[in-house]
Amino acid sequence: MSEKYGVGLGNNDATIRKKADSDYVSFWDEQAHNLSWFSPWEKTLDWNPPFAKWFVGGKINASYNALDIHQTTKSQKPAILWEGENGDSKTYTYGDLFVEVQKFANVLKSLGVKQGDRVTIYLPMVPELPIAMLACARIGAVHTVIFSGFSAASIKDRIDDSKSKIVITADGGYRRGKIVKLKEVIDDAIKGFEFVKHVIVLERTKNQISLSSKDKLWTDLMESISDSCNAEKLPSDHPLYILYTSGTTGKPKGVLHGTGGYLTHLYSTFKWAFDIKDSDIFFCTADIGWVTGHSYVVYAPLLHGATQIMYEGAPDFPDVSRMWDILQKYKTTIFYTTPTALRMFMKFGDDVPNSFDLSSLRLLGTVGEPINPEVWKWYYKIIGKEKCPIIDTWWQTETGGMMISALPGVETIPLKPGSGTLPIPGTDITVVDEFGTEVPPNTKGYLIIRNPWPGMLLTLWGDDEKYKSVYWSKYPNSYYPGDYALKDDDGYLWLLGRADDVLKIAGHRIGTAELESCIVSDDYVAESAVCGIPDDVKGEVIIAYVVLKNGVTIDKSILEKNLYNKIRNDVGAIATPKQIYFVSKLPKTRSGKIMRRLLKSIANGETIGDTSTLDDVSAVTEIQNIVKEKTK
Ligand code: WTA
Repeated sequence: MSEKYGVGLGNNDATIRKKADSDYVSFWDEQAHNLSWFSPWEKTLDWNPPFAKWFVGGKINASYNALDIHQTTKSQKPAILWEGENGDSKTYTYGDLFVEVQKFANVLKSLGVKQGDRVTIYLPMVPELPIAMLACARIGAVHTVIFSGFSAASIKDRIDDSKSKIVITADGGYRRGKIVKLKEVIDDAIKGFEFVKHVIVLERTKNQISLSSKDKLWTDLMESISDSCNAEKLPSDHPLYILYTSGTTGKPKGVLHGTGGYLTHLYSTFKWAFDIKDSDIFFCTADIGWVTGHSYVVYAPLLHGATQIMYEGAPDFPDVSRMWDILQKYKTTIFYTTPTALRMFMKFGDDVPNSFDLSSLRLLGTVGEPINPEVWKWYYKIIGKEKCPIIDTWWQTETGGMMISALPGVETIPLKPGSGTLPIPGTDITVVDEFGTEVPPNTKGYLIIRNPWPGMLLTLWGDDEKYKSVYWSKYPNSYYPGDYALKDDDGYLWLLGRADDVLKIAGHRIGTAELESCIVSDDYVAESAVCGIPDDVKGEVIIAYVVLKNGVTIDKSILEKNLYNKIRNDVGAIATPKQIYFVSKLPKTRSGKIMRRLLKSIANGETIGDTSTLDDVSAVTEIQNIVKEKTK
């Protein structure tokens, strides 16, 4: 922990932390003035724990701040440099986006979409995805984007929960050269949903699709529609979007974000962390289906009038040099990616990135999961050539934007590989024990956030009680993110993974309960427990333990195949376990709680610790033998 890197790379503005520390509410008030408001707010923060309203009474529009404000000076400036997986490329200037978004906003209006209505978007990484989101924001509709890797069953639940009037999808999307038939998935997902009035279909791949009376083609709708649509003047806490994310319960939670607070958080963190300049070429590799894409592909860069790259496909297609090729081609200056991607790139060897000119890079970032120090150092040396600071940004779907990160746009601090460094200004983040007492330095505890912050979720869609119990019940008046952390002697935070049953597979959140309920819904299965074990590339991979119903005689290899298919269909390919073990019972405490800690250790081949609370020790011996046999 004593190694220090990147000293001297960054700015120094001590006033920011000073102001934030003296009064976080007036600090955020000052930051909010960086946005364009139709009318000013009367109150900066209305904190009725655990519900926060920021900039109360203020009127604002996200699409206006992303587009309209740039039209006088930047209408010719590229907003999105889009790179298709097959090598297609297309540039959208701020002027182009402005036109497309207004047209599509009029399309939505013509289909009866009103303020507050929900619109589900299930699109690949094409420019029409941000266009559709910004069009929703423009008219005050609430977008709910679903990652295009999710299956029909997962989408069904999400559309049903949000009761979306409109679904926007594409005929297909490209992934590793193959076409993923998105329209078919949607047809399946919305069967019987009377409340879905229309499906808008973008033709991306031109594969054969069948159209019903609900379906409308994107191009037809856009053909003769007006390109002028004023942005609605919306209250600061008007919902901007719902994004579903996995938690510890079976049902995904609809994280609801507002407008004024959320945008203030994004504007500020984008400036502080990425030190954004007008000349930068920014590239965030996240899919817009996840929060990183919402915040740091769609909203934050556009608020700043920045130029960014948006890439459609897989990072290793057609070969393992694709990312470096893109960085070189567009003379990228800022690169933001995941530890999983970096671990994969590192495995391919240094020669791959070394054969590209990456000299345009000046700042690097990571997000989504802890980064191992070796990978951090590789990133620093091989990609950044020891001249680019690395920001390791910790945050969540719920926090809206970054909460812990080094901030080269604000201050120069030594970087330590594997540490997120310090909380962002205007937040109060610390590490506590089970009872809420701050732990001494270098002691593992639970991360908590003690003050409200502008990007925080408004609530969980339609479920205030769950919002209270999931995030605010463990510690009085503090937000509990569900992460382990420690603070070192310098006050730097080290994020140590999830403290709950949420898995992080290649940086993607998967709830154990969601997966278990899918497995248990199989006719032959009585019980199941899943856990994550460390993986060199993906950070974590899934192991599933399955107990069959009494008297079931089905061939296990057939059942195994069926379960893999079921998981792929019901949850999505990212949730596919690495291994399924059939066992006769699960290790449980005397009160009947599954001891996941043991399952994890066994799958990992570790010696298991204290088993005194176990109800039946033979469960462990049996599982150990089965695992040993399979991994021989
Ligand atoms: C984890 C992604 C360590 C953490 C933006 C958190 C991280 C969860 C980091 C949220 C990081 C995110 N270091 N762990 N830099 N960033 N996490 O909602 O466990 O998909 O709670 O948001 O990712 O995942 P989510």
